[in-house]
Amino acid sequence: MNNVVIKNVRLYGEGDPVDVLLADGEIREIGTDLGVIDAQTVDGAGQVLLPGFIDLHTHLREPGREDTETIESGSAAAALGGYTAVFAMANTSPVADTAVITDYVWKRGQEVGLVDVHPVGAVTVGLEGKQLAEMGTMAAGVGAVRIFSDDGHCVYDPLIMRRALEYANSLGVLIAQHAEEPRLTKGAVAHEGPTASRLGLAGWPRAAEESIVARDALLARDAGARVHICHASTAGTVELLKWAKAQGISITAEVTPHHLLLDDSRLETYDAVNRVNPPLREASDVAALRQALAEGVVDCVATDHAPHADQDKCCEFAAARPGMLGLETALSIIVETMVKPGLLDWRGVARVMSENPARIVGLDDQGRPLAVGEPANLVLIDPAAEWTVEADDLASIARNTPFQAMTLPAKVTATFLRGRLTARDGKIVAG
Ligand code: NCD
Ligand code: ZN
Repeated sequence: MNNVVIKNVRLYGEGDPVDVLLADGEIREIGTDLGVIDAQTVDGAGQVLLPGFIDLHTHLREPGREDTETIESGSAAAALGGYTAVFAMANTSPVADTAVITDYVWKRGQEVGLVDVHPVGAVTVGLEGKQLAEMGTMAAGVGAVRIFSDDGHCVYDPLIMRRALEYANSLGVLIAQHAEEPRLTKGAVAHEGPTASRLGLAGWPRAAEESIVARDALLARDAGARVHICHASTAGTVELLKWAKAQGISITAEVTPHHLLLDDSRLETYDAVNRVNPPLREASDVAALRQALAEGVVDCVATDHAPHADQDKCCEFAAARPGMLGLETALSIIVETMVKPGLLDWRGVARVMSENPARIVGLDDQGRPLAVGEPANLVLIDPAAEWTVEADDLASIARNTPFQAMTLPAKVTATFLRGRLTARDGKIVAG
């Protein structure tokens, strides 16, 4: 019996509760009187059903740093967070700059079977920014790479970026840019502003991000290509996105949950769990990012889930690696920062965490409407739940969550991948 019926659930948190039958990987029936069905029952009373989340920006550290995350542990974290597809960044060791690696990532994800792990291919060989990687063979492999990114590094050379955009355009794939002009961030560890000055931390100016966003918008315009901006972090980036979109430039952008909740006042303790790229900015940036996500200027949420070992985080701020865990806390942070203040309703959450990411990357089996005949990639959410983050309880191997001990609203209670339960009440359901 592989069928599941979700009872008494509200689709998008709207209207009267209904029963939803999942069979053969699809939504088979939606109604209030489905009759006697041979199916596993999942109680959806008081809960919200949405299309499964898609993360365009996840770091799973396999191959190379399996001590901090593997495709298996990261897939578990994703399923528990309500995700049905994630895009695993290319900054592994070795770098995912050939089809050998990108195909491996896809196949390993399918073996684990908890979430579709789409590989991101590197734009340049070794993420060095010098020579384009063989994007065509990666796109043509079984991993069918759809996003190319040197994330962790910026494709800083404008001529290389221009060629990458042209090449990606002809392949029908997307370039995702980590916007950071490296000449402006040498040695930088924190947002350049009063807090960093007072604390004696080297500053990462907003202009390092914004100058690349502006440049890449213009390069995309001239190449007639699409460009995606990773982890937008400043109010100025929001203004540039607005401008570029108004010109008809094909630019999209993501924002992370941490940039929607935290600001640089967190640095007062010098706790390196708060070190991240781009850095936590000021309260005014946080407010602008929330507004931009609500209005669609920023298209979607992406976690930038970045696991790091204790020895790389529990050390002096300037010596720590940048990055934070995000997969298991994303939904709750979006509820806290966007739903509770009235900036998004549940349809809005579906839009920014599922539909828009699917559209940006052209996935046709994800981010679909909750309707009969659609693939059953779904997340069930208890909007009334509250929980307290405990790093040791997360499925990730690493423990670098900045949300430790915070009490957060809303909890994923079940995730379905092609009609099969992958996570239920905080536990992984074996495949
Ligand atoms: C990421 C990582 O650790 O791989 N770190 C981070 O601070 N965001 C790289 C990245 O996304 O830039
Ligand atoms: Zn990045």
